[in-house]
Amino acid sequence: MSVQKENIRNFSIIAHIDHGKSTLADRLLQATNAVSEREAREQILDSMDIERERGITIKASAVTVFHQHAPGSSLEGGDPNAPQQRFMLNFIDTPGHVDFNYEVSRALKACEGAILVVDATQGVQAQTLVNAYLAVNENLTIVPVINKIDLPSARTDDVAMEIEQTLGFKAEECLQVSAKTGRGIPELLAAICDKFPPPRKPVVKQLRALIFDAVYDDYRGVIIYVRVFDGELKVGDKIRMMGVGRTFQVTEIGKMNPKPYRLPDGKIGSGETAYVVAAIRSLKDVRVGDTVTLDIDPATEPLPGYQPPRQMVFCDFYPATDEEGSGSDFEELRDAVEKLSLNDSSFTFQPVHSEALGFGFRCGFLGLLHMDIIQERLEREGNVQIVQTAPTVSYHVLVRGTDTVTGSNGQALKSVETSSPFFRNIPEGNQLLEVHNPADLPNMGHIMEIREPICRVEIMVPKEYIGDVMKLCLERRGIYKQQSFVSAGREMITFEIPLAEIIYDFFDKMKGMTSGYGTMDYEVIEYRNDTLVRLDILINGDPVEALAIIVHREKAEQRGRILLKRLKEQIPRHQFEIPLQGAIGGKIIARETIKAFRKDVLAKCYGGDVSRKRKLLEKQKEGKKRMKSVGSVTIPQEAFMAVLDQSE
Ligand code: GTP
Repeated sequence: MSVQKENIRNFSIIAHIDHGKSTLADRLLQATNAVSEREAREQILDSMDIERERGITIKASAVTVFHQHAPGSSLEGGDPNAPQQRFMLNFIDTPGHVDFNYEVSRALKACEGAILVVDATQGVQAQTLVNAYLAVNENLTIVPVINKIDLPSARTDDVAMEIEQTLGFKAEECLQVSAKTGRGIPELLAAICDKFPPPRKPVVKQLRALIFDAVYDDYRGVIIYVRVFDGELKVGDKIRMMGVGRTFQVTEIGKMNPKPYRLPDGKIGSGETAYVVAAIRSLKDVRVGDTVTLDIDPATEPLPGYQPPRQMVFCDFYPATDEEGSGSDFEELRDAVEKLSLNDSSFTFQPVHSEALGFGFRCGFLGLLHMDIIQERLEREGNVQIVQTAPTVSYHVLVRGTDTVTGSNGQALKSVETSSPFFRNIPEGNQLLEVHNPADLPNMGHIMEIREPICRVEIMVPKEYIGDVMKLCLERRGIYKQQSFVSAGREMITFEIPLAEIIYDFFDKMKGMTSGYGTMDYEVIEYRNDTLVRLDILINGDPVEALAIIVHREKAEQRGRILLKRLKEQIPRHQFEIPLQGAIGGKIIARETIKAFRKDVLAKCYGGDVSRKRKLLEKQKEGKKRMKSVGSVTIPQEAFMAVLDQSE
């Protein structure tokens, strides 16, 4: 049965982590009979199960369900007895973590409405606000929902007041639901139909569809998710990606309910969302945010896209060996990285060679969580063992002259793209280079400025912890901006802090000192010049590029001392003495020594007892570590991370 265009609703569910987005989505599926009660339960327990249905990898990106509703009946003055009509509800999933904020904004571009979920026990949190602002920026209609009202600790009325104070919705406008028991779900469905607007009318006759997501499937290539704004798309059409410029033949169009099904008539019209299969080989051929049009009758203007993802955090991956010398090699690592890039096009990689560590890859990520996920996937799916260097941020270095400048591995350093919002104030005859490896920093004599990424950090904390959190921010070179009221017991504080100071342990420290109650969000707002220098680390007289860091001049000595202390703890003793040195521009500023190793583990075994000897060796093996040899010194993985630990 078809649905009138004005009865289509496209919306997202947005929330702070764990406020119940997925559970609420499950309840909506169940209430619209898309899944049975039993399936709904199973799905919560094991959502991976549906992923391989029919050979398609599914990230339930856009699910379509149908609902019968009397239009307007839930509004003031509406007629509850009006005849029921069929509504098509397309809900588009969004991830919760800050690293993936750009994914949230791209999902929102395909919607007219957003359900903003707030936990009745936790109240408004940092990401509640950030997500709400993203939705407001996209001009979406927002329905605020207070979830988990079944819990005895629910503070439903207080939370409604918080929503009113921080976001400006009336407290009584907030719907109260329990995604666990299903209470309030019928009212929510009614609000979705009555409050969210229908899709806008087509403005051109040619096809224009926005790609809001894409996933790679081993069997069918890339599956794209589109929202059609204008025109119509059919199986057999030759489509053209307006940005990338490539063409493909559409072989299948379908929807998710939540399982995928092919559309029987093989076409979708304006206002709808669908997945499209078109023998697209690689994610590189697809740019999320691009506009799909027909090759035969193309649109002239693409739809407004969105900013491509920007890599903020970088580190090197090298193949690791264990203490016995076995492990992965560079070719295995290359295979794994290339394969993974088919699946995730938001990380970048380029081969690097380091004197000390050999061949590896320098990779760029959206944030720290993204880095961890990629590392884990490489190891699990690619079956390689990796030594990872400490993450660094990307610096913009203003250099005299316009000659090509090469980095430590002989490759030319890239200029900051002129389209970047951070490309500014470059005096005539100079250039702005992007450096995300401290070893690549040009000769200080050529450098006019080193600019580093600065974040606006918003932290929401119970009042009693404000002093501690402020102190932490100031220690990390933070600049206080403002403090605002959230509710009787909580405030939001805003600081500007260099990204380099928060990428490692800032979040954990903040969580620890607020007993887990603090929540935060950050966004890079600009690149700012500061007195930064490169701190080199020499082990046994050899500089180890992978341990070099860029630090503020005033903190350099202190950081150097702490760093060498950490390295001394992490690098095992060898049969010779190992000097560790920290240097700035050739001048040694700190020094430690690792004494020679004398004891032999087997020495205690006096010959004879073989089983005892084996036990001892096995015990040693248990602690088998990932290592990398630098000259004659073996350095364990932990040592590379030690550079980030700033605690005394
Ligand atoms: P992320 O996807 O990690 O951002 O989380 P989410 O927002 O999707 O939250 P999720 O649905 O995974 O719920 C988080 C936890 O809250 C789970 O343990 C749910 O079972 C629980 N939960 C969700 N809704 C309710 C509710 O209405 N009542 C109760 N008691 N628990 C709920």
